[in-house]
Amino acid sequence: MPSDASASQAPRPPRHVAIIMDGNGRWAKARHLPRVMGHRAGVAAVRATVRAAPELGIEYLTLYGFSSENWKRPRTEVNDLMGLLRMYIREDLEELHRNGVEVKVIGAKTHLEGDIVQLIEEAQVRTRGNTKLKLIIAFNYGGQDEIVEAARRIAKDAVGGKLKPEELDREQFASYLATAGIPDPELVIRTSGERRLSNFLIWQAAYSEFVFTDTLWPDFTKAHLVAAIQEFQGRDRRFGGLSTTMAAGGNT
Ligand code: IPE
Ligand code: IPE
Ligand code: MG
Repeated sequence: MPSDASASQAPRPPRHVAIIMDGNGRWAKARHLPRVMGHRAGVAAVRATVRAAPELGIEYLTLYGFSSENWKRPRTEVNDLMGLLRMYIREDLEELHRNGVEVKVIGAKTHLEGDIVQLIEEAQVRTRGNTKLKLIIAFNYGGQDEIVEAARRIAKDAVGGKLKPEELDREQFASYLATAGIPDPELVIRTSGERRLSNFLIWQAAYSEFVFTDTLWPDFTKAHLVAAIQEFQGRDRRFGGLSTTMAAGGNT
């Protein structure tokens, strides 16, 4: 493939950034506040990040809001997190729509209260077709569950004669995931100093660049996002091949 010199001169922003928003509890603890206050402060950081993303040229922003493992937390905290999703959709939907944001929620709908499922549906229908930013909220999401669910649907289609097992390839498999049609994230950011995926986009992040920052999620600002993008732009993404300079004939 010919290399594009102009592209290497002007580093482009990642099209898809995915963020593991972590550290709300520690942010609250440091202030001797209940954990829920950290989650509330986290919503403010969500708003700022959603506003900043299209300004920085990001087309897809995925935010991890509640994992399939977060049900292990005390009932009161689970209720607080459910309440915050409700509040976010109710309070922000019209503004998101006005700003051209398309909302998609990925994750299992099982165990979610009926009104939350309805709000999610309303948000998706209301904003469908908006093009300024695709905002993907991973809520009650687990990457392993997502892959198992895809496998289940593939098996059903195979049994039903709609799919030939020997023809199944990565592309077709990916079309059964909740992220079908969404390009894989080029950059995955995790706040709060933890360095793990915690079951987030485990298929899609196969070749993502990772940026880990010690900043706690409620303290995350546009400047942190800019810094993460700059770090991304300095990375040499090889995808198993050779770096562009080596491929161009470098022999060192
Ligand atoms: C991230 O903050 C929000 C969710 C996981 C829902 P945490 O609540 O995990 O905060 P820490 O990790 O306890 O500080
Ligand atoms: C991951 O954070 C989930 C979200 C940010 C929604 P956790 O705080 O739940 O992850 P672990 O338990 O530290 O791996
Ligand atoms: Mg955490």
